[in-house]
Amino acid sequence: MSSAITLREITKVYGTFTAVDRFSLEVERGTVFGLLGPNGAGKTTLIKILTTLMRPTSGDAVVEGHSILTAAKKVREVIGVVPQENNLDRYLTARENLVLHGKLHGMSAARYNPRIDELLEMTGLTSRQHDFPDTFSGGMQRRLVVARSLVHNPLVLFLDEPTTGLDPQSRRALWDYIRQLRHSMTVFLTTHYMDEADTLCDRIVIMDNGVSLADGSAAALKEALSHAHVYEVELCGDGAAYQKILEEQPFITSIERSENCLRLTLNGEKSLKPLMDVIAGADLKRISLKEPSLEDVFIALTGKKVRNA
Ligand SMILES: Nc1ncnc2c1ncn2[C@@H]1O[C@H](COP(=O)(O)OP(=O)(O)O)[C@@H](O)[C@H]1O
Ligand SMILES: [Mg+2]
Repeated sequence: MSSAITLREITKVYGTFTAVDRFSLEVERGTVFGLLGPNGAGKTTLIKILTTLMRPTSGDAVVEGHSILTAAKKVREVIGVVPQENNLDRYLTARENLVLHGKLHGMSAARYNPRIDELLEMTGLTSRQHDFPDTFSGGMQRRLVVARSLVHNPLVLFLDEPTTGLDPQSRRALWDYIRQLRHSMTVFLTTHYMDEADTLCDRIVIMDNGVSLADGSAAALKEALSHAHVYEVELCGDGAAYQKILEEQPFITSIERSENCLRLTLNGEKSLKPLMDVIAGADLKRISLKEPSLEDVFIALTGKKVRNA
């Protein structure tokens, strides 16, 4: 069985409000999985349940063979957690934070010290290891929380909105660390950033209002939305004249023109050849396919623009 995480009809009700509604899922081992959704979708609730910080109202989940209901302690041994809010101990230095984590996981100094050296190096914090987290930038604190989550060599790493609020450079640095983990463990992350899901995740589930709305690779999700094939054609010749000719063609469903640039919606890829037949080669300067972005998919499914945190 190659599933690292299995969710069976997980439901969480707060009072009378259902935040997660019979959510089922299997995440393949060694992959980077992304739960993409707007604020309030239920992402943190799901992560808290999977990391045993909260019990579901009903349903069960299994992480590396251990049930979150009946073997919570075992689950905690095999997972690393990067919560949405940094929860570093501000009275301990960076290194002491990592050491404490190693001790809490029953590791000996002989085991945790080399591992901590390696993680400080990987996250670029070696020179700051004896400083207190309060003196760190947001990006450095986040890197320290990621390093801490890895001290005990977890099989599954949960990251709740790992780069929210970080500057672009810190975000890219974190993405690099996460990419390095690919294949060596299973990564389950939540995000409301399209670019993050697009670049990092092998598979994405888009969720809103506690339920899954779509499931697939970024490419597959975009492909599913591309009922229409939109091409941008730039001409050397007279754009207006071509607009008239192209409007007559049955395989073109819509056409927009700005100067000598035409944005055409074709009724399928097979219409590309007839289009080329209509446009004389010498008049064609450039043609490009306009793919729908993941953001287009997200808006189509949730009806929401991505909101800033
Ligand atoms: N402890 C709580 N009590 C009541 N409602 C909550 C609680 N925690 C979260 N919620 C609500 O549940 C929904 C999902 O929240 P959350 O899981 O934090 O979403 P996300 O992480 O996707 O932003 C939101 O509407 C939120 O207001
Ligand atoms: Mg959240």
